[in-house]
Parts: sequence; structure tokens; C-alpha cells
Amino acid sequence: MASLGVNIDHIANVRQARRTVEPDPVPMALMAELGGADGITIHLREDRRHIQDRDLTLLRQTVRTRLNLEMAATKEMVEIALREQPDMVTLVPERREEVTTEGGLDVRSQCTSLSSVIDTLQSNDIPVSLFVDPDRNQLEACQQSGARWVELHTGRYAQASWREQPMTLARLIEATDQARSMGLRVNAGHGLTYQNVEPIAAIPGMEELNIGHTIVARALSVGLQEAVREMKSLVQNPRRDPLFGSSSS
Ligand code: PXP
Repeated sequence: MASLGVNIDHIANVRQARRTVEPDPVPMALMAELGGADGITIHLREDRRHIQDRDLTLLRQTVRTRLNLEMAATKEMVEIALREQPDMVTLVPERREEVTTEGGLDVRSQCTSLSSVIDTLQSNDIPVSLFVDPDRNQLEACQQSGARWVELHTGRYAQASWREQPMTLARLIEATDQARSMGLRVNAGHGLTYQNVEPIAAIPGMEELNIGHTIVARALSVGLQEAVREMKSLVQNPRRDPLFGSSSS
């Protein structure tokens, strides 16, 4: 049975839209754990567009499941990972102008530099996963790089038309099998939703799915009515007078 890693970047996205303090992804991670998350995933991007350094430090202290840090393979990020000691690092490609991580890492073309980052992290007890497209050549490069895990990019499957979806699913099933036969452990994620997750969760050998956007979207949907109810009650029945003393009524 696959486990669930909940990506909470989108909670930080809402906070950063106003550069304020709410919603705070740190207590939200606890809520996700109470809901059954097997792990919490955050992406500390070079441009700090959502998750901040402070979030990582606090989450390292408070997450009781596993903390998976997605990051680019840069010197700055490696130093941060060594200091914060997440339970796993997932190396992802990063481009400033992208809306979200768009493609998998090209491990083949940067195997030597990635190997050195992977070696540094793994020799400090931080297992490394590589976010890659479900492509045999990339998986072979992952194996050569010394990484122990891969996260298969499910974006193409998630965006496929109903006509193309069986083919993209077959590719993910095959890639999971290929990776495992190379001794790699397999996670997957990106673009998974309540509608399309089940065939991926049922792939034999799939260990963890990392899912973010759809869960945060659903939380807004199931929580909005209650949030409005609470605000309406305060607006219609204020318990403080205009000078912030207690209301007499
Ligand atoms: N896995 C990786 C490597 C990602 O970059 C992301 C997006 O941050 C996810 C999983 C989760 O994707 P989504 O938010 O579409 O569920």
C-alpha cells in the first residue's frame, strides 16, 4: 500500500500573497498529520516564493512523521539540508520563471555533479530521491548517480486526455518496475487529484505519493462554509464594543 506525503507549499503560497503570518504551514502540517499524512513535503525554492527558511526550521522541530525537503542541487541548499537534517531530500529542477516544477531532472546530463551532491547528503544520513520523468535512460542515470530513491513525475499522466491516459499510466507502471529492478525505491507525484490518483496508488511497488495542490484546494472547499459561518457570527454578534472593551449584552 502506498503512503501519502502531503505537500504544504500551497498553504505558504496563500500567506506569501499578502506577506503576512497566516495561514501558517507549520500548524497546518500537524493538521495534515492528524488527517493521516505519512509525511510532510516542502519545497524551499531559491526565490523563496512560498516556503521560507523559518518554516523549514520549525517544521524540522515539529513534524512527527517524515519531513521531505524538495530542493535544487545547489551549494546553498545543500548547506541548508545538512544543517536542518530532513528525513529525505528530493532533488528537483528549478527555474525561476516556472509556475511549478515543470519537468523531471535531466540526471543523464549532470550525473557527475549530482553524484557529488547525493554523496554529500547520503554520507550525512540524508537519503536522496531524484524527481525524474518515467524514462528508462533517466532511471539508469539515477542508479549510476548513487541515489537510493526516485520520484516519478506524474504530470504527463495527470494532464493526458482520456485517450492518452492509459499509455501514460502504462509508462509509469513500466518505469516503476524498471526502477525497482535497478534497486531503486519509487515514489511519485505532481498533478495527482482525487479523480486520477487511484490507478497510480495501485501500481505494484509504489511507496509514496506526494500530493499538494488538490488537497489544499479541497481543504478550501470543505472548510469555506465553516470559515464564513464563524466570521458571520462575529460580524453579526460582536462580543466587544468599538473601544475593545467587553460588550455588555
Ligand atoms: N512532487 C514534486 C517533486 C513537486 O515539485 C510537486 C509540486 O510542488 C509535487 C510532487 C506535488 O504536486 P501537486 O501540488 O501538483 O500535487
